[in-house]
Amino acid sequence: MKKRVFSGMRPTGPLHLGHMAGALSNWVKLQEQHECFYSIVDWHALMSNYMEAENTRQYCYDVLMDWLAVGLDPEKCSIFVQSHVPQHAELCLALSMITPLGWLYRNPTYKEQIENMQNKDLSTYAFLGYPVLMAADILLYRAELVPVGEDQSAHLELSRETVRRFNNFYGEGLLVEPQPLWTATPKVPGTDGRKMSKSYGNSLDISESAESMWEKLRSMVTDPARIKRTDPGEPEKCPVWDLQKVFNPDAEELEELAHGCRTAGIGCVDCKKKLNVHIQTMMAPIHERRVRYTKNQKLLADILTHGAETASKAARVTMETLYPAMGLIPAFNR
Ligand code: TRP
Repeated sequence: MKKRVFSGMRPTGPLHLGHMAGALSNWVKLQEQHECFYSIVDWHALMSNYMEAENTRQYCYDVLMDWLAVGLDPEKCSIFVQSHVPQHAELCLALSMITPLGWLYRNPTYKEQIENMQNKDLSTYAFLGYPVLMAADILLYRAELVPVGEDQSAHLELSRETVRRFNNFYGEGLLVEPQPLWTATPKVPGTDGRKMSKSYGNSLDISESAESMWEKLRSMVTDPARIKRTDPGEPEKCPVWDLQKVFNPDAEELEELAHGCRTAGIGCVDCKKKLNVHIQTMMAPIHERRVRYTKNQKLLADILTHGAETASKAARVTMETLYPAMGLIPAFNR
């Protein structure tokens, strides 16, 4: 049975190999099996980046091109920008009526993010309400499945609680409780060995040229104990090995590389060269597709228009049921 799927990503810059190995490869599979809505959630990006809003527009296009490049297909799923479907904001307001402040203040993700981003003033009404908008995103489509990483579990739970409370007030079955579809997130370290992340400046971007990517891989840290070429290494302590495990599909070669590392039979540069070949083989068709889209601004705009139309249709159906349930006069003009 086809199910409704919703997920979103904040447009905060170009996407990287971590996004690809985690969320995106899963999204591409899901579009074959289900009715998927994938949204570039620009309002969410503004919640933490309202002070540097001028980049948001370009970031939306970056995300769109990266999505299309890795194989999201506008013929198979709906790809749209959150703010183009005003019902997201409208449902967010409706849900805010019944969302207890305690739920928001107690949200562990909120506390964590305030701690982690002390350079930004995030003591705003909107940022506190981040999970309310996220709930609105999902519930607007009555989505049953939400592919997300474990870092979103508190938000997902809040969405589920919101449904129960809302339905309790206004009518059973009005909103649908979404199930998380936990995305297996393989360990994808960046060039410095820490988790790949734009904010660490250690990422290998989907849009990055082969030359630039190799330059980064070449100078990447490896097992810190392997100083000289003749020192044996331990793959388990090497971030390049973590990348091999994710991006090298050749099991036999993997074994040779691990053995070669432990016995100092091969050097780190040789190991990186092998990895680079696999990454570039994987990226070549992706880059080719990306360039085609980059050159066609009209096509990108059309994809977003079409996606917003499909999403709006579904959104209107839900909102129409909520108006009378909440005691509002249904709007005549849409
Ligand atoms: N909060 C999500 C993240 O940071 C992005 C997001 C916004 C989302 N709305 C969503 C994810 C709805 C899934 C469903 O990754």
